[in-house]
Formats: sequence, structure tokens, C-alpha cells
Amino acid sequence: MRASSITGNTIPAGEPGRNCALCSRLKAYREENRQAEPSWHNAPVPSFGGKNARLLIVGLAPGVRGANRTGRPFTGDYAGDLLYATLKEYGFAQGNYAADPKDGLELADCRITNAVRCVPPQNKPLPIEMTACRPFLQTTMTEMKNLQAIVALGRIAHESTLRSLGAKLSAFPFVHGAVHEIDEGARKLKLFDSYHCSRYNTNTGVLTPDMFRAVFANVRTMII
Ligand code: URA
Repeated sequence: MRASSITGNTIPAGEPGRNCALCSRLKAYREENRQAEPSWHNAPVPSFGGKNARLLIVGLAPGVRGANRTGRPFTGDYAGDLLYATLKEYGFAQGNYAADPKDGLELADCRITNAVRCVPPQNKPLPIEMTACRPFLQTTMTEMKNLQAIVALGRIAHESTLRSLGAKLSAFPFVHGAVHEIDEGARKLKLFDSYHCSRYNTNTGVLTPDMFRAVFANVRTMII
């Protein structure tokens, strides 16, 4: 643990500090958002859920009015409505999801993180930002000693997950509904691919709630 120079709070080792400066563009955007909306979280968004979970969900990056505002992944935007409803249906979350980190919702044997911890302009992180943030994703995965399955939401999260695991991208192409077996040597992981549960993907019919449910139904057959 190390102390944050701003808040005095402790930041776990391997986590970005509130004022992480690894990405100049994301830092500048964060500062703009802090000026415009001082009551918002406006900082890297930590993972949600316990380290002992067997399932990890990897999203892309915080939404500006969602996780960047509330400080909890997928909390406060459309993507979260679909994700948390689906997790509850398959027993990976319990309680009431009210789009607020104080809603008391708890994840069950599940943890949620993002490939990029800071909100990017237009929801589009640059490749250099994916690379800069990857050590935090690696830490998230290595500290999960019971990890068995990962759900990657979208191709970018899928690729960042593979890179974090040191797996070859060409050996594991992104296909919605696919399940890849990744052999890390010391452990074997199953990587489940899903289209991202964004409003855009659901509005355009790329991902229907039933398609999303089918991914988690499949995960559930593995994590029993
Ligand atoms: N909110 C997140 O935290 N991550 C996403 O990928 C989308 C919305």
C-alpha cells in the first residue's frame, strides 16, 4: 500500500493513483471534467468485487456520466443496466442495483474491471493508453488466485486481456459467444467473448439481451 498525496488515503499497490499521469490525454480530459463537474469521481475507477472471485468481467473504460461520475464500474449508464440485471439473473450479483455505488449491490464470486481505468474522450481509448493501463489489468488478474473465467466485453477488452495474459492474439480471435481456453502454465483460464453491452450495440441489434444472457448462462455452467 502507498499513500495518495492528494487524499492521504492508501492506494493498493498495483493500482493507479487518483492523479495517475501515465496518459497525458486522459489526464487532461480528467482535469477538464473536474473543472466542469467537481462533485463527480473524475479519477481512475477501481475494480468492483472481491479478489477471491472466480469470475472476472473486463469492460472497456469508464463512461463519462457512468463510472467516471459514480466511481464504480458500469454504474450509472445504460451498459450497467443490462450488465447488472444479467449478473443478478445468473446469481453473480445480489441486492438492488440503483445506479449508485451506495445501492448495496454485491457481486457474488465475480469482479468487474476495465481495460482502461480512466474515462477516454468519446469512449475511445487509444492503443497507447491501452498499453499504459495494462499493468493494472495484469495486477487485477494475478491477484485473483481463484480466477477461472473471464468475460471480455468487446474486442478491445478481449485483446487487452490476451495481451495481459501473454497469449497470442492470432490464436484466439474475438467471436461473440466463443470460449477460449488459455493455458497460463500454472493455471488454465476460460475466456468468454461477448459484444460490449453498450447502448449503441443494443440499439443497433448487434447484441440483444438474450445474446448477452446466453454468455452468462454458459459461464454459469462452468462456475457452479
Ligand atoms: N462503464 C464501464 O465501467 N465500462 C465500460 O466498458 C462501459 C461502461
